[in-house]
Amino acid sequence: MSQFFDLVSKPVRNMGGYSPGMPLQTVTPQVQQKLIKLDSNENPFGPSPRAVEAMGRALAFSSAYPDDDCAQLRHKLAEHHGLQPEQVMVTAGSTALLGLLCQTLLAPGLNAVTSQRSFIVYSLAVNATGASLIETPMANDGFDLNAILDAIDEKSRIVFLANPNNPTSTLVDVGMVDNFMARIPGHVILVLDEAYYEFAMHFSSLRGTTHSKSLDYVRQGASIVVLRTFSKAHGLAGLRIGYGLGPPELLAYCARMRNTFSVSSVAQAAAMAAVDDQGHIRRVVTNNADQALALTDALSKFACRVAQTSTNFLYCDLGEDASIVARRLQDEGVSVRPLRAWGAPNCIRVTIGTPEQNQCFLGAVRKIVGHNRAEKIALNSNRT
Ligand SMILES: Cc1ncc(COP(=O)(O)O)c(C=O)c1O
Repeated sequence: MSQFFDLVSKPVRNMGGYSPGMPLQTVTPQVQQKLIKLDSNENPFGPSPRAVEAMGRALAFSSAYPDDDCAQLRHKLAEHHGLQPEQVMVTAGSTALLGLLCQTLLAPGLNAVTSQRSFIVYSLAVNATGASLIETPMANDGFDLNAILDAIDEKSRIVFLANPNNPTSTLVDVGMVDNFMARIPGHVILVLDEAYYEFAMHFSSLRGTTHSKSLDYVRQGASIVVLRTFSKAHGLAGLRIGYGLGPPELLAYCARMRNTFSVSSVAQAAAMAAVDDQGHIRRVVTNNADQALALTDALSKFACRVAQTSTNFLYCDLGEDASIVARRLQDEGVSVRPLRAWGAPNCIRVTIGTPEQNQCFLGAVRKIVGHNRAEKIALNSNRT
């Protein structure tokens, strides 16, 4: 009989947990050395050397508590983005701010709205408050903003829009977000999650499109919180640091809910240095875009459907049970994320790695799914 089931709160009883990709720390050093980890959208190049140096310096002062308000970093980010420091809130990863926003705005009887097949933490953060999450159907592997507007009711307080979306890698066009902003009711706050902003910006500049006007909305004082993170393009996922940009009053309410000293001084120092190393970001996003093209092309030759990515990963329909393929890929030393839990049993999400890592991944795909298919495709094209 369960000892604590009747004691824990109802939201906790009803919640599922988060299952992350394989943590490197849990495997033996031999496997660690060989494993190509393409399951968590981490940065294959790691952090900027300048951030690593800054961490080293900060370590010597580890006996002191960090600045709870992250004031230096807030000021730096405000200047970087052309905003006021009060419009910036730094948290232990952007997911921590997702949690704070939910605790601040939601309660049992209220709801938040997002799309199916989006970032898993939205449901965890909402369910922890006892509120409910409404998930609208997707359109073309992306958010259907009209469906979201239709789903909003008087009990709604938050809409989550991951742009680009995890795990489908797709982007909502800037005009559609503009239109959405004009139509979203006043009692609802848009949480625009731009965790992959730097990658999306680079893709947009290559494609000659505009990625996002998110900071204009913040400057206009709209009911929006834009989330950014140091976990992806900056390569600092292990340090847990991210931030939100939004209305000072709302961020101040969220700040009341946060744990004291939750962002370490090492993370703050690393982030300060990472903002200054834009050259590192450029190298990371350039490799990503080049490799996205190469991988998409190669996977298409095996009859895999790959969505056009605006992120550092690919959403790929293998046309067969992806959990089985993912297990076999892992036997070959490559870890990817199968997406059955997202309602896409034939799909995987694979992080775009270094050219060498991607070659290993493709070699394993060729061995597992590719051989027969490549032959079939060649045969068919010879016949036509
Ligand atoms: C859409 C989205 N938002 C936020 C995050 C997490 O960011 P952080 O590491 O800052 O908590 C991720 C990470 O995978 C993500 O995909």
